[in-house]
Amino acid sequence: MPVAEARIRTGRASRYLTQLCGHTARMNFLGHANRHGEHATATAMPQRAECSDTDGVIDFDRGRLTLRATNEELILVAEADDQQDLRLMQDAIATRLQRIGRRDRLSLTWRPAPAQPGHGDGGAAAILERLMTPAGRAQPFPLYAAAHKQGPVSAVTDGLYLVSGYAAVNQVLREPGFGLAEPGSPNSGNDALRLMKQSILRANPPDHGRMRSLISKVFTPRRVAELRPAIEAAVDDLLDQLAEAAVAGGPVDFMDHVAYPLPVTVICELLGVPPADRWRFRPLAADLTEALEPFGDASAAADAAARELADYFTPLISERRAAPGDDLVSALVAARDANDGRLSDEELLANLILLLVAGFETTTNLLGNGLAILLDRPDLTAALRAQQIPVAAFIEEVLRYDSPVQAVTRQAHADGLTVEGVAIPEGADLILLIGAANRDPARYDDPDRFDPTRTDIRPLSFGAGPHICIGNNLARLEAAVAFPKLLTRFPNLSASPARPPLRRDRLVLRGFQTLPIQMTPVDDRR
Ligand code: HEM
Repeated sequence: MPVAEARIRTGRASRYLTQLCGHTARMNFLGHANRHGEHATATAMPQRAECSDTDGVIDFDRGRLTLRATNEELILVAEADDQQDLRLMQDAIATRLQRIGRRDRLSLTWRPAPAQPGHGDGGAAAILERLMTPAGRAQPFPLYAAAHKQGPVSAVTDGLYLVSGYAAVNQVLREPGFGLAEPGSPNSGNDALRLMKQSILRANPPDHGRMRSLISKVFTPRRVAELRPAIEAAVDDLLDQLAEAAVAGGPVDFMDHVAYPLPVTVICELLGVPPADRWRFRPLAADLTEALEPFGDASAAADAAARELADYFTPLISERRAAPGDDLVSALVAARDANDGRLSDEELLANLILLLVAGFETTTNLLGNGLAILLDRPDLTAALRAQQIPVAAFIEEVLRYDSPVQAVTRQAHADGLTVEGVAIPEGADLILLIGAANRDPARYDDPDRFDPTRTDIRPLSFGAGPHICIGNNLARLEAAVAFPKLLTRFPNLSASPARPPLRRDRLVLRGFQTLPIQMTPVDDRR
């Protein structure tokens, strides 16, 4: 595959990057993009862009452009199937960039570049390395495709394996020989990691079973089902606010107005956390969950977030212990298992914080990722609105296609384990690429196609086995209430032509930072 690179020296690289992405959003809005790959004229058309301030990917009808902005330069890497397509892309990009950068007299020179791993020439180590870069995090799917070509399980080093096949990820999640990395001494590590390790998410048997049974006792399907009226009311209320914000006619951010506040309101209600506190949690959760990124040394910000959340929940636990209410904090304080086991004070704190953070970070991303797909596919939006596609099938396909959790980790805790014929030595670490498993061509036909009419969609997005997500019913319920109400209330919903969406620069928790939309409300909403 031919690849070309251009490096443009400019102090305003980030600005040009977002302008190039914004141009793509406008082209789409105006219906200029050639979605069907018909090369009506000899030019290259941008079709879809995903960018942050520093990184971006623009898919053309003839190939892909990856962008990177540093303080000093804008780096462009164009790839296409053949030289002619590459040349057309280079010309289209140069024309656009020279136009938007004419005041700075921007000019660019393309040079042939080595092919990127992800197209057959990268081993597991190269694939993992690329996944850890901003461009890899923005667009992991070509790298997953490359991982599938390596096989379902590949060694990165003697002690580290990349697992990308559906059957392989499913097996590791369920097999008792694999567990979570054993914590070192309880006093080692930083505050964020120590907090996570005290929670059910990172526990191994027998602690895991004890915590799981205590939490499952209070986080019951009935308690979740009973939340439906409260979720409906919360959605109606947020859509009212969205309509008000849209009156001015400019773009409104779906993440700010719906995708974040809905799950946080619901989980605060469930836990009995006063709703007035909910805006505090967004930056704290964002900082804390950095500790979930592979090899992500939890930063000082993650530690500070862990301490602030602990300071918030410690007095709340004491209050509920003294005066229990009808909420999950009170129920967990009181819960005992058959052996009269309870959660220790530290476990209680860690699990309450986990429930809060897991309760909205991921669901926020499910709502955003789902809407981004709809904005790109008016045909699907119409079918969902007309109930030709069941909302449950749409949600399962969103989970498969753009999973809010892209990876989890495990460690081999026994001797003689094998996965898909690959021997895994005891003590080895495994990165389970859930997002890749969900797009395994051995499990799904044409896996990169979004198709809610597929049969047997069973994504691994909520995990599997003993750690399968406790909140999966709740997340699905929130999405099942939100999408139909949103589409009914706003028949003219579309992506904002003025502002492109921004992805969060994360691999594990995949979602949008901002998803600007515009719409015209109608009155007969209920
Ligand atoms: C779309 C939304 C969600 C996604 C994609 C998701 C994904 C996941 C995944 C992949 C795991 C397994 C981690 C592993 O095996 O290492 C997990 C565990 C967990 N999730 Fe979720 N989750 C979502 C929503 C929620 C919600 C709404 C809650 C709670 C209110 C929640 C609470 C938990 C808890 C407590 C665990 C730990 C279970 C255990 O380790 O036994 N999640 N989630």
